[in-house]
Formats: sequence, structure tokens, C-alpha cells
Amino acid sequence: MKKYRSQEWFGVKDKSGFIARSWLKNQGLPNDAFDGRPIIGICNTWSELTPCNAHLRDLAEQVKQGVLEAGGIAFEFPVMSLGEALMKPTTMLYRNLASMDVEESIRANPLDGVVLLTNCDKTTPACLMGAASVDLPTIVVTGGPMLNGKHQGKDIGSGTDLWKFSEELRAGIITQQEFDEIENNMSRSSGACNTMGTASTLSCMVESLGLSLPGSATIPAVDANRRRVARLSGRRAVELVKENICLSHILTKEAFENAIITNVAIGGSTNFIIHLLAIAGRIGVPLSLDDFDKHSQNIPLLVNLKPSGSYLMEDFHYAGGMPAVINQLLDKVNSNILQINGFTLKDNYCNGVIYNEDVIRNCANPLQDDAGTIVLKGNLAPDGAIIKPSAATPQLLNYKARAFVFENIEDYNERINDLDLDVSQDDILVLKGAGPKGYPGMPEVGNFGLPLKLLKLGVRDMVRISDGRMSGTAFGTIVLHVSPESNVGGTLALVKTGDIIELNCQQRKLTLHVNEDELSIRRESWVPEEINYPRGYTHIYIKTVNQANTGADLNFLTGKSSSIIKREPHPK
Ligand code: FES
Repeated sequence: MKKYRSQEWFGVKDKSGFIARSWLKNQGLPNDAFDGRPIIGICNTWSELTPCNAHLRDLAEQVKQGVLEAGGIAFEFPVMSLGEALMKPTTMLYRNLASMDVEESIRANPLDGVVLLTNCDKTTPACLMGAASVDLPTIVVTGGPMLNGKHQGKDIGSGTDLWKFSEELRAGIITQQEFDEIENNMSRSSGACNTMGTASTLSCMVESLGLSLPGSATIPAVDANRRRVARLSGRRAVELVKENICLSHILTKEAFENAIITNVAIGGSTNFIIHLLAIAGRIGVPLSLDDFDKHSQNIPLLVNLKPSGSYLMEDFHYAGGMPAVINQLLDKVNSNILQINGFTLKDNYCNGVIYNEDVIRNCANPLQDDAGTIVLKGNLAPDGAIIKPSAATPQLLNYKARAFVFENIEDYNERINDLDLDVSQDDILVLKGAGPKGYPGMPEVGNFGLPLKLLKLGVRDMVRISDGRMSGTAFGTIVLHVSPESNVGGTLALVKTGDIIELNCQQRKLTLHVNEDELSIRRESWVPEEINYPRGYTHIYIKTVNQANTGADLNFLTGKSSSIIKREPHPK
């Protein structure tokens, strides 16, 4: 019989083998649990403080059943969970920390394979980043979206409709009472945000990378099919160990390209970019912003979901889900590559069917022809910035105007409701200090709201530029991830109110029309804002975080360390 990694713990008849087996036996395990069968770790991001993942204990039980049915033994273990709705200042600050927890928990334990249970935005990339650095056989089970929100007979979507209603409340269009009612009706079941926000985007990313069972990304959290997928994934994890299919066998450059292409067709979140870059960095696949630009071109938008469109994840699932979308893209993606169930992408998706053409379009009748994320370069973003045109106002995609600058989020919060603010609806709004180092943690403030004065005039979108991210549920003409960020002295730091900025999506350019002599003078007198965190994780984070254009991982975490451990906790 093949000797698996876990036998380094359980297969030895000495003191250390005794310890490994004996202590686990306190959970009722019989002797034959340690006879060499695959040991599967269920890496669970369950937490009551992560509402989108609060049902993952239930799914873990299904995974366990599946592992047992396939002849393995399963151990569920907790890792740091990141709840988007609660954590301050931003979950993104902690994504890399959680990834370290995942990596070290997997490597340090007697595991032959892993099932990652994820859902809320950062839990998926954190788990994948950590697991990629160990590179064991690994399958992902995402928790699925919530049911559609319902308000006054209409569907309402997580986040997207909150942003809309909160602006309407500010503008006096709806009352506080109605706003409170909406609060009760938006989150109606277990699961993640039901729009094509970051969590849904990343569930689709996982499937398009080939790391979860085909068709699983969109199944609602409360649908029995999701429990079935969890069970089948448990079974498959055991087979992956037997077949020795590791993450790096699935996460090839071609798989990353497929994810990029698919993300355009589903109208996925801009956060997809930063997380995919970080995951690629861990597994060792060279990926840059230029790959996103290159592989996004000429890919149509097929999925009519909020924030880019009209429907929600439940509708997407009933309309055919990812099989229907990927089937449309078969001539555009790398279709002969291996996926987690042992079949090629083509095998898995050749029968995908669209059941509702208003929700999922075919390639001959797309919602938008060329909908890919645009990577912008220019003197305002020498290392790149991004914009999601499908969520933007088309007339603003090529636009030149005066900059109106907020120096940081405190400056913004203090002035945004000032009815005497010297801002015009023709301006381009700029927010500094929202990057990885500067905030710190690169929060989702890029979709910062419009000045109250302009909201009251009925203005609903303006060009906004920042070094932050935006929620995947947000919309607007919003330039994000400006690199280098302002707090490390990127050109963004030098912009002043009154400067002229030009956004030219056609030419993929973001230009600050200030001459180089003047910029040099400003650069010499620029003083970085002091960011003072003398201790703890944030201290390490600020000193080591990479810029957004490479995924904002910590510089010492990129790459793999493998699953090998050389030393024992006890002497022979
Ligand atoms: Fe968890 Fe949106 S808040 S997925």
C-alpha cells in the first residue's frame, strides 16, 4: 500500500507515534484509523462572527461523511475567519495573516489532503494562498450565496442595494423607517452576499480555476445540493490523495487564464484581480496586471447580475450557473486542462445549458461586447490602476476634468456632507491614503459616496480615483488600486485640487496633466503621513506588504515552502 504523508506521524512504533495516535484516540478513533488510509483535513473558516460562513459546520459534517464513505479519516480544524460585515478597519488587513494560519495549520499536522471550507470575501483567497504554499491535494467547498433579498415585492441584493438606498436616504428620497425595513429583508438566509460581489466572484473563480466540483459555485447556501456537493467533495478529497493530484497540478498558468476570462463574462468583482495575483504568487505561476488586460479583451459580459446588471445569484443558479457560462466560453478558454474531479474543463462543461436567456446571455447576444477590466497606466499610476467598465457610466469612461482631492478618509468624512463644498458635478474626485500600507489594509472605500450637495441635485455618478479597493457589490466610474499608493510616494500623493486629470479607457491611460518640473517640486516637499503601529501583526504588515499591482501579499510569504517538516517535537 502507498505510504502517505500522515504515516510520518502515525506509522511509527515509537514514542512520537504513540503520542500522535493515543491523544487522537480520546475522540474514539479505533486502531485501524491509523492503518495508512488517507487523512483529510477540513480547514473550516466557520465563525458566528462571519455570518456568511456561519453554516459551514453543517457542511463540514457532510464533507466528513464523504471522506469516510471513500475510506479516509477526516479531521476538522478551525482557522482564522474574516467576516466582511464586522471586522475593522478592513478584512483585507488580515487576509495575509489568515493565510499564514491556514498554511502552518496544514503543514504542521498529519494531513494527506485538505478540503477548504470558505465563503465570505477574504476567507476564500486566504485559504487558497495558505494551501498553495503547502501544495497538498486540495479541493474547495464554498458556502454558497444567500437567497434573494425581498422588499416591497422586489428583489434586493446584498451591498448593491444598500449602497443605492443609503445614498437615497442621504438625499432624502427614502425615509429612515423604510431604510430600517430594508435591513430586515436583505439577508434572508445563510450564505454569502447574493450579488456578484466579491464572495460570489471568488466562488466562481474557484470553479473556473478547476478547484471545486463543476456547477457548485452558484448553488444557494440553503439548497440541499450544496450539502451534496460537500459530501461528494469529501469523497473526492480521498481520491485526490490516492491519485496524488496536488494544487499545483490544477493551478497552472492556463487555469489562471481561464479564471480571468470567465471573470469578465460573469461581471466579477475587481477584488478578483488582487486575490488572483496573490494566489498565483504563492503557487509560483507568473501572473501580472498585463495578463488581466490581455486575456480580458474581446470577452463579452454574459451574466446579468447586480451590480453590473439586474439579477441575483439565486437567479444565476436557476438559469444554468457556471456550466452555462463556461460552455459559452469553450472556444476562448484553455479547455483541455485537468480539473479537480479528474476530467478536463471541456468534459465538465460541454453540456452546460442556459435556461433563462435574460439572466445568462449567449455569446451571440451579450450584455456588453468587450467588458473586461481595464488596466490603466500613465503618470498617475505608473504600476497600474484598474476600472470595471461594466459597472461604470459609459460617458465617463473617457473624461478629462478638474481634480477635487480628499487627503485621507478623515478629510473625506469631515467634508463630504458640507453643502458649501467647492465641488462641481464635473469634477473628478480623488481619495488618497487608502492603499495597503496607508490605511493600513487597503479597504473598500474606493466607491466613496458623492458629495451631499451633488446628491441633492440628482447626481448619481462621478469619476472617482483612489489607491483603495471597492466592494464587489458596488458600481460607478471608479478607478481603483492606483499603484504605487499615495503613502509610499506614488504620484497620487502629489495631486492637488484644481489639477487636471484625464481618464482615457480607450487608450488605457490615467494621466495627471501637471508637468514634470512641477511634480518634482511637489515630490521634494512631500512628507509621508506617519503610520505608527509599534507592535503586533499590523507592525509586520506595514513593513512588509507588497503593492496592489502584485497582490498585496506580505513580501516574505510569496512562494511555497512545501509540506515537508524536518524536525520532530520530541527526541527519539
Ligand atoms: Fe460576507 Fe458579503 S459580507 S460575502
